[in-house]
Amino acid sequence: MKIAVAAEADRAEPRVGATPETVKKMIGLGAEVAVQPGAGIKSGILDADYTAAGATVSADALRGADVVLKVRRPEAAELPDYQKGALVIAIMDPYGNDAALKAMADAGVTAFAMELMPRITRAQSMDVLSSQANLAGYRAVIDASAEYGRAFPMMMTAAGTVPAARVFIMGVGVAGLQAIATARRLGAVVTATDVRPATKEQVESLGAKFLAVEDEEFKNAQTAGGYAKEMSKEYQAKQAALVAEHLKKQDVVITTALIPGRPAPRLVTKEMVASMKPGSVLVDLAIERGGNVEGARAGEVAEVGGVKIVGFTNVAGRLAASASGLYAKNLLTFLEILVDKKDKKLAVNWDDEIVKAVALTRDGAVVHPSFMPKSAA
Ligand code: NAI
Repeated sequence: MKIAVAAEADRAEPRVGATPETVKKMIGLGAEVAVQPGAGIKSGILDADYTAAGATVSADALRGADVVLKVRRPEAAELPDYQKGALVIAIMDPYGNDAALKAMADAGVTAFAMELMPRITRAQSMDVLSSQANLAGYRAVIDASAEYGRAFPMMMTAAGTVPAARVFIMGVGVAGLQAIATARRLGAVVTATDVRPATKEQVESLGAKFLAVEDEEFKNAQTAGGYAKEMSKEYQAKQAALVAEHLKKQDVVITTALIPGRPAPRLVTKEMVASMKPGSVLVDLAIERGGNVEGARAGEVAEVGGVKIVGFTNVAGRLAASASGLYAKNLLTFLEILVDKKDKKLAVNWDDEIVKAVALTRDGAVVHPSFMPKSAA
């Protein structure tokens, strides 16, 4: 069993799919591990660290690899390097990328999309959305505090009192919860909103105040999978009115609202931005899916009437070493269910609910029901 750790072709992607620690574990599973040169450097891992863990480092690490660990989906230009039938494990970004999925199918690779991991107990340690969103939520607060011209905690000094920052978190999934906890640790006064009623208690248990229109629709706004539904126009209008009033009094706003497979909901309009105090900071963590904040620009800090809108992309990657550490562990635990530990060989159980949920392409075709071409589905 040959496992390759790929270097990312996208230079803006600093993360890597394996660490020396996970390399050792993979060797323990019976694998030979080959790493492309420089794969870990942006996460603080040297080629020599991989070698010390027992891997080889080689430019053609992908040649003959049965499994390839990656962060992002391989692009068409990279695919000729992959062996037919290779299992490629990465964040595949499958929504709206039919051509790229077809290219992987045509290349004969078996692609597993880690972001499609079901949210069941057995798969918790394989959940890349959670591991990365948690770090992004933390980093969003750190980025906000760096852009904000005032302190977060209340400070009573001989020269006068600095008031505590008012921080509002919109969307209280994994990222939002970590943002609440981080802002609280920094001493801010924190409020938060979400459309899923289950979040109210979570927000309060972190010492923040919950704000939402709590009508009948709100009470049913969670899917069985634990995700948000797209809300009706009427609900969105009521929520927007409540939020509009609240935003005027906030110093920092962090938005994290996502709906799986759909564009991010627009939660903050340009009128709302204009109503905020100069010096306020918004951080839009949903920017890669279209953004929650009107005026946010991907990869930039936009300034609108003295209000800063932070639109950094790949925010987990801004903590590359931590992000790679958790991501590599997620991949390792998934890999472990693909391996027969006695025979030390790959043995994929295609009927396993985890495997079925993440398998995108196999035997030359797109096999995931959500992404199959219409005719095949
Ligand atoms: P996500 O990243 O898909 O969305 C972030 C948040 O935005 C969600 O809380 C969502 O309700 C909220 N949102 C969507 N539309 C909104 C709107 N219009 N206004 C305000 N907020 C809006 O969510 P994430 O972080 O993936 O978490 C979803 C759920 O899954 C959570 O309950 C989380 O605790 C749960 N979860 C369960 C796991 C497991 O059981 N293994 C693992 C990880 C998360």
